[in-house]
Parts: sequence; C-alpha cells; structure tokens
Amino acid sequence: MDRIRIRGGRPLSGEIKVGGAKNAALPLMAAGMLTDDRLILSNVPRLADIATMTLLLEQHGLAVEPLTEDGRMLSIGGGIANTEAPYDIVRKMRASILVLGPLLARAGEARVSLPGGCSIGTRPVDLHLKGLEQMGARFDLDGGYVDGKVDGRLHGARIVFPFVSVGATENLLMAAALAEGETVLANAAREPEIGDLASCLVAMGARIDGIGTDKLVIQGVDQLHAAEHDIIPDRIETGSYACAAAISGGSVFLRNARLEHLGATVRILREAGVEIAQEDGGLMVTRLNGLHGADVMTEPYPGFPTDMQAQFMALMSVAEGASMVTETIFENRFMHVPELNRMGARINVHGASAIVRGVPCLQGAPVMATDLRASLSLILAGLAARGETVVNRVYHLDRGYEAVEQKLAACGADIERIS
Ligand code: UD1
Repeated sequence: MDRIRIRGGRPLSGEIKVGGAKNAALPLMAAGMLTDDRLILSNVPRLADIATMTLLLEQHGLAVEPLTEDGRMLSIGGGIANTEAPYDIVRKMRASILVLGPLLARAGEARVSLPGGCSIGTRPVDLHLKGLEQMGARFDLDGGYVDGKVDGRLHGARIVFPFVSVGATENLLMAAALAEGETVLANAAREPEIGDLASCLVAMGARIDGIGTDKLVIQGVDQLHAAEHDIIPDRIETGSYACAAAISGGSVFLRNARLEHLGATVRILREAGVEIAQEDGGLMVTRLNGLHGADVMTEPYPGFPTDMQAQFMALMSVAEGASMVTETIFENRFMHVPELNRMGARINVHGASAIVRGVPCLQGAPVMATDLRASLSLILAGLAARGETVVNRVYHLDRGYEAVEQKLAACGADIERIS
C-alpha cells in the first residue's frame, strides 16, 4: 500500500493548479442519467471517486467516455438499462446515493444499496428518502438495499428540510427537474456545488429559480437534453493548499481558485494571519508573520466547511495561542486529533469541540490517515514538522486529492510517494 513521506521545514513557493471540484463532479455525473442525450463535462478531476462513479454509471447501462487523453473531459450518455446500484460500489463511495433521484425520475424504480456509516459518523439518508416519498416514491428495505418504486411519474412537492443536507438537496433537485409540476426545496443547501449542478440542469433544459439561495423552485419538464458544462474549481482543494502555504510560512499562487466560493474560510484564514489576495486567474496566499489562534465552528455554506476542519486544525496546532474548533456537521470527525498529538500537537477534545493549544514546532512521526480530509491535515502537519513524517493509508487521499505530492513538490516541499 502506498505511503507518503515528508521531510518538513521548507517554505512553499510557486504555483499550484486547483482542479475541478470532486463534490460538484459526482452529482453532475449522476445528472447524466437524466437524459439519453450526451452530457459533456469538462474540468473533471482525476480521482478514485470519479472512477467509482464511472463504474456505477456503467453498471446502470450508461456509456462514460473520456473525450481527451487526460480524461478531464467526459461524455456521459446512452440512458439507463439497469436500476440496481450494488453494495460493492456504494460501500466505496457514499455519494453513490445520488443515483437514487435520477433512477426514480427516469426509470420509475431503483434498487440502491444503503450506504452504511463511515469513519466520520453515522450519516443517514433519511432526508433523501422522505423527500422522494413526498414526491410519490415508495420505499422498502430489503437485504441492505432500499427498493424504490413510483407509479407513473414523480410529482412536485413542497419539501422543507429540517436541517441542511448537501446530498439530499442534490438528489431532490435532480428528481424535481423531471417531476410533474412544481417542487419547492426550502432550507436547501447553498454550497457552490449545488449552484453548479443547478446551472448544468438549466443548460439541459430544467427550469429552476432561486439558484444560490436556500429556496429552490423547480418547474418539472418532460425531458432534458444534451448539454456541455465546465465544473467549478475545488474550493476544498483551494483551502487545503492555502493551509499548506500558511503552515510552511511560504507563498503560493493557487491558479483557478475563486475567492467567492470560499465563504467563511477566507475570513478565518485571514484572522489567523494568512494573507489571501485575488489576482488575475487565481489567488495568492502568503504567510509572512506568525500565525494566531482563531476559533471556528463548522456550518453549512457559507459557513466554515466541515471538509476544511481537519486541515485548519493542523494549521492551528502551530499557531500562537489557543483555538477552539467546533464540529457541528458530523459527530465523529476528530480522528486526526490523536495522530496530530503523536506529532507533538496539544489538542484536547471535549464533545463536539477541540481545544488546540499552539506549539512552536511539530515533530515528524509515522501516522495513519483515517479519512480523506484527515489525510491532508497530516500532510500539512508533516510540512511544518521537524524531521520525517510518513502518512500511511493514503488511499483515502487518492479519493479526493489529485497528485498531492507532485503539486507540493513542485513548490519546493520535500515529499514523495513510496509504493
Ligand atoms: C456532502 C459532501 C461532504 C461534506 C458534506 C457536508 C459530497 C459528495 N459530499 O456530504 O464532503 O462533508 O456534504 O458539507 O458532496 N443527514 C441526515 N440525513 C440525511 C442526510 C444528511 O441526518 O438524509 C445529516 C448527516 O449525517 C450530517 C448532515 O446531515 O450530519 C449533513 O450531511 P450532508 O450535507 O447530507 O452531507 P453529504 O451530502 O453526505
């Protein structure tokens, strides 16, 4: 199994190109099921999760073809021939649940393995199911699979989410695009990835009002058609490399990154002493002086993202003073804490909050990556640590970060992948 070895202490300097957003690409690929025509996606990141979604769509009978040698442009088309999403694929990637809405809207039936819990929490899908039920679907649970059926066509409904869910908003938005009549999604998630999905659906012929707000109003249409769509840059990859520049005390230009997608991340990083400036074609991130502790609480967009929490904590572990990091989205998302503490960080967890007392320097150590974002937080810690850090279980990293070691090495980091 691959590992990543880092020798810390070198300030980063140079340019990193931010790729297409994984969490936008996955629902956009599922949206390819909403028409038999071709959906052409560009700026597709090259990640293990994209390969898993490709496999899933192919299992449903669709043709997913790369249009360029580097695989960054994909054509999806051909229609649904099989309505089962098997356990073997879903267990690898929870985002597989995003095929449920499209399958019910197009084929009137779906048999989708229920995603289990994951290392960051229980993560149920009840909001997806309740919303689709309101639109006329019926569900049975059978052998770990949810069996969904619709008599005729899904119909519009007024759905008020009790709390914000990115995945449920995406599933219901796709279902509503082809439902009969009007659907209102209130208290909908506002993440930029949802705006990206909605604008692609509009290009496919969907009628959606309120894009970018927490109230989406969808007038269902009979069918959708071919479209081309360019995926937005990954705001979490952006934030992660901003933390890399900051923790190393360097200066990095993040090509393609967009300030307007970063929400609270920019404010918090600036509060901690990181300079972030919008320039032509990207963001310049610099840290010249010391880092100061800053408190954060994870929240739905535009609040501070849970997907940035582990990386920010690594940064705060070497800041001056104390920080309080509170996780409100997932109940078990502090598994990076014991690993950071093995490197000399001083972090205590109390329920949903962690108190981070900054230390002047971390020490390299062998550590274990427990999930995707935790993996990156350990790499960040390795960049700042004295001596050698080896991050094990990097398959988590490959799900969501493309060529991390190459991007960081190109900016002067001493980092390599060991097979
Ligand atoms: C998406 C992102 C993930 C990010 C998360 C929160 C993708 C592929 N994944 O995940 O990277 O960490 O948003 O920004 O885009 N919940 C329920 N019932 C449901 C659905 C969700 O209780 O039916 C709960 C979850 O357990 C969690 C909270 O709602 O506590 C938010 O989850 P949600 O926004 O749905 O996350 P995902 O869409 O799974």
